[in-house]
Amino acid sequence: MRRESKKARTRRILLTGAGFGLAVGVLVTFVAAKTVIERQEKQLTAENTELKQENEKLELQAQKVTAVEDSAKLLAGDTDGWCLALVNENYPLDTEYEPAKLTEIDSERSVDSRIAESLQKMLDDGAAAGLSMYVASGYRSYDKQREVFNSTMQDWINQGYSPLNAYDETKKSVAVPGTSEHATGLAVDIISSEYEELDDRQGDTDEQKWLMEHCWEYGFILRYPEEKADITGIIYEPWHYRYVGEDVAKEITEQGITLEEYVLGQ
Ligand code: DAL
Ligand code: ZN
Repeated sequence: MRRESKKARTRRILLTGAGFGLAVGVLVTFVAAKTVIERQEKQLTAENTELKQENEKLELQAQKVTAVEDSAKLLAGDTDGWCLALVNENYPLDTEYEPAKLTEIDSERSVDSRIAESLQKMLDDGAAAGLSMYVASGYRSYDKQREVFNSTMQDWINQGYSPLNAYDETKKSVAVPGTSEHATGLAVDIISSEYEELDDRQGDTDEQKWLMEHCWEYGFILRYPEEKADITGIIYEPWHYRYVGEDVAKEITEQGITLEEYVLGQ
């Protein structure tokens, strides 16, 4: 075997050293560049998340403004906020409004088709939990609401109330025609089969207790809670549930507020 000359050995050692040095240099540069890129990526992701959250907030704000400005337009539209329309004495609904598509619950009752599945699931899960309840009222046209209002007012008059007092008494529990959210197709009255009266005690039934606890999971809220009549304009109605979508229902329920407080920020 040929012996390596001293010069060749030195050259080989120098070359190996240089090669090694170069490799280390490249590796260090690569790791440093990777770290910088990763840091920049992280920053971009954080900025992106922030922008997305900001955007969602702005969209929600826009929906809230539309919810009180033109509920019929919001209801008819296909933006996420369609189910946030605020309808009450101060925010009437266009009397011509009709849900684009209704789904029948039975021969006499229907709801806006967009909430039918959530409603059915809530009713089915309630039944599976051993409860017995049914939808007593869903979508009501302007004319139907007028019928309900007039007949309730007549009941008060029959009890001796003057027409003016009967009107005032009626509108505490039946919305004046044109201001009922039953006309949106997004509200339902659900009654316990064990107790069919529409009074405070309806709220003590197992059915209402279950609904009040779980309705938000299906996108519904108890629309007229106890001690909120000064805000909603309607007395405690433990049977009246309103669809607002799962996220908003969760927020409203967690905060213990009404749709008015949520939308108007009162
Ligand atoms: N009972 C509710 C308030 C309505 O008539 O819409
Ligand atoms: Zn109702």
